[in-house]
Amino acid sequence: MSATVFLPYLFSLFLLLLLLPLTLARGLGSEHSDKSVRHRTVQILHAYSPTSPLRPPSAAPASWEDSVLQVQSKDQARLLYLSSLVAGKSVVPVAYGRQIIQTPTYVVRVKVGTPPQTLLMALDTSNDAAWLPCSGCTGCAPVLFASAKSSTFRGLPCQAAQCTQVPNPTCLGSSCGFNLTYGSSTMAAALSQDTVALASDAVPSYTFGCIQKATGNSLPPQGLLGLGRGPLSFLSQTQNLYQSTFSYCLPSFRSLNFSGSLRLGPIAQPKNIKFTSLLRNPRRSSLYYTNLIGIRVGRRVVNIPGSALAFNPTTGAGTIFDSGTVFTRLVEPAYNAVRDEIRRRMGNATVSSLGGFDTCYAVPIVVPTITFMFQGMNMTLAQDNFLIHSTATSITCLAVAAAPDNVNSVLNVIATFQQQNHRILFDVPGSRLGVSRELCT
Ligand SMILES: *[C@@H]1O[C@H](CO)[C@@H](O)[C@H](O)[C@H]1NC(C)=O
Ligand SMILES: *[C@@H]1O[C@H](CO)[C@@H](O)[C@H](O)[C@H]1NC(C)=O
Ligand SMILES: *[C@@H]1O[C@H](CO)[C@@H](O)[C@H](O)[C@H]1NC(C)=O
Ligand SMILES: *[C@@H]1O[C@H](CO)[C@@H](O)[C@H](O)[C@H]1NC(C)=O
Repeated sequence: MSATVFLPYLFSLFLLLLLLPLTLARGLGSEHSDKSVRHRTVQILHAYSPTSPLRPPSAAPASWEDSVLQVQSKDQARLLYLSSLVAGKSVVPVAYGRQIIQTPTYVVRVKVGTPPQTLLMALDTSNDAAWLPCSGCTGCAPVLFASAKSSTFRGLPCQAAQCTQVPNPTCLGSSCGFNLTYGSSTMAAALSQDTVALASDAVPSYTFGCIQKATGNSLPPQGLLGLGRGPLSFLSQTQNLYQSTFSYCLPSFRSLNFSGSLRLGPIAQPKNIKFTSLLRNPRRSSLYYTNLIGIRVGRRVVNIPGSALAFNPTTGAGTIFDSGTVFTRLVEPAYNAVRDEIRRRMGNATVSSLGGFDTCYAVPIVVPTITFMFQGMNMTLAQDNFLIHSTATSITCLAVAAAPDNVNSVLNVIATFQQQNHRILFDVPGSRLGVSRELCT
């Protein structure tokens, strides 16, 4: 494959093909005598993989650098969006010179309705509700859910209990609707229910938003499945089946032999996995906060002021794991400490920048590992998880960046480039998050 053919693939990321066979493993310690508790493995796809139907025609950038810039501009919008969640107010991100498609990058096949219609819905660990474009929608992408063709579809009335769980509920006639800002988009949706199935478990009367009007281009084209912790999330609505427990493994961006999986339920989760506590922020209950206490570059713990990492529910400060940001962002004092240590080790070698990355070298970067030290768990990243190579220019960059400094930037985000080839386990009842190295490819 020639370089020009290969390059777009590098950053467009990939179709995650193969399911990993379920490994036999113990459950997570809660009771599973209840036969209704399931374990299922679902294939995860990358939205912009070469074979993804969601891939926009313009998603084939001319060069590696372009790809980096593109991914980063999307990330920037995502960061602003997450910051706005944390701040508890809606800040609409502005474009950074390029058109921004602020879409979580990983999607799963979801069957909706009777008979089932398949949609590729984005996985978003930082949101709760599910919503999808319905027929009749103005401003939505072309693939729509035809609610009239489903015998099990129904709209929810204003009196429905779920109507109090959506943001900004409105009553149109007697039906419950809501308006939502997502990234730079807005939408108006009717709160609805239908049968929804991931894997082979059909969940009757699943509550979601049926989008009727959308503006902007931030919405995942075939909808979004919220994997947060709030009342309307997938976890809450499948509590009986999967006990609010799931894990995923995202493959290396560089692999052409992709596979990725979303594993639902406590039973078949890995045995050898280290845990750190999940922290709850009542102001933003859906986000998966963890307690990052330090960062090691190689064997040296770099000097980061405690305040840069401390969890603070009032300001929203702290560290989250997110499935919709590609490159990890650290608040400036933390980022600077990591960057300075890498530059120190590189001695006289000439440092350059590329896109939003400011620590790039034309010679190999000699740092073997970076470790995120969480309370109770060290997550050690091999070079594939923190260095990014340009095959075109032979430049290698530190694939981590400082948080955008123009808004409430108090949030550290552990992003998907750093999570790839790890299984990340979200054990909500146990209030813990686990990480283990696993080849997803
Ligand atoms: C929600 O959005 C719809 C459609 O854009 C609009 O007509 C309506 O006024 C909005 N409602 C609220 C409460 O903002
Ligand atoms: C792809 O995966 C298959 C089976 O998992 C393996 O046999 C093959 O060697 C892999 N190919 C590459 C290029 O990694
Ligand atoms: C780095 O530069 C200093 C001063 O110019 C020089 O003395 C030293 O030998 C250089 N080190 C390397 C590894 O090139
Ligand atoms: C993580 O690494 C640090 C520094 O090497 C070490 O002191 C600490 O005990 C480790 N933590 C765990 C939970 O292994």
